[in-house]
Amino acid sequence: MSFLENHKKLERNVTLLLVFSFIAVAIGGIVEIVPLFYLKNTIEKVTGMRPYTPLELTGRNIYIREGCYLCHSQMIRPFRDEVERYGHYSLAAESMYDHPFQWGSKRTGPDLARVGDRYSNEWHVQHLVEPRSLVPESIMPSYGFLADNTLSTHDIADHLRANSLVGVPYDDEMIANAEADMRAQADIDANTEGLETRYPKVRVADFDGDPNRLTEMDAMVAYLQMLGTLVDFTAFDPKANER
Ligand code: HEC
Repeated sequence: MSFLENHKKLERNVTLLLVFSFIAVAIGGIVEIVPLFYLKNTIEKVTGMRPYTPLELTGRNIYIREGCYLCHSQMIRPFRDEVERYGHYSLAAESMYDHPFQWGSKRTGPDLARVGDRYSNEWHVQHLVEPRSLVPESIMPSYGFLADNTLSTHDIADHLRANSLVGVPYDDEMIANAEADMRAQADIDANTEGLETRYPKVRVADFDGDPNRLTEMDAMVAYLQMLGTLVDFTAFDPKANER
């Protein structure tokens, strides 16, 4: 009874209630935060991760602008049904260059964390222009206007610079070549030697199927086609990352 009496006092005194609430929340916080100091790492060591190419980064910006994340997640949870449907569960390392990350929590459409290389560029273009021409029951909106919109390239170096400020390892050479790299990735006739050394495993293609124009469709498809393809899972050992 005396416990309840004491609790009554606590509930009726705002200052006391605040102090005890703070203590309760602080204990919860410490329990979650302190173990992180003792873990060797929270981001696995993997091979293959690199920053986005300028074209992919632009595609990612359009993905965010259009709100694709409202219907699509980009995080495969370590459950059997997800791994069988989408592939290897997502690693923290795979979104370490994402600002902001696109994990999401809503799946009106499928998870896209490993959609890269699953379809052809032509499939993506047609699907974005008219989803129902490929998946008749689809409720995804049409994004055909991406193929009409000329891609703006003038501010891409600034985007790389902004990302480098928050820790993405874009160096001076990448920033200086940003606009040229962006054009080269969508041009199969371009000299892509520099692009390929700066961004290993980069896909060079005429993504939107129109060789005469660089469009938002080029950037979007370049982004979708690299999703989940960078980490070399043959060289990934989850045990090596345990402490
Ligand atoms: C209103 C919800 C909605 C929005 C917004 C949306 N999608 Fe979808 N998306 C879906 C649904 C539902 C499907 C499954 C049917 C289909 O393939 O069309 C899908 C399928 C896809 C697929 C095929 C995935 C697979 O594994 O088969 C891709 C790629 C995709 N969407 C990309 C995008 C992109 C890029 C955007 C933003 C430009 C976007 N979606 C916006 C609902 C949405």
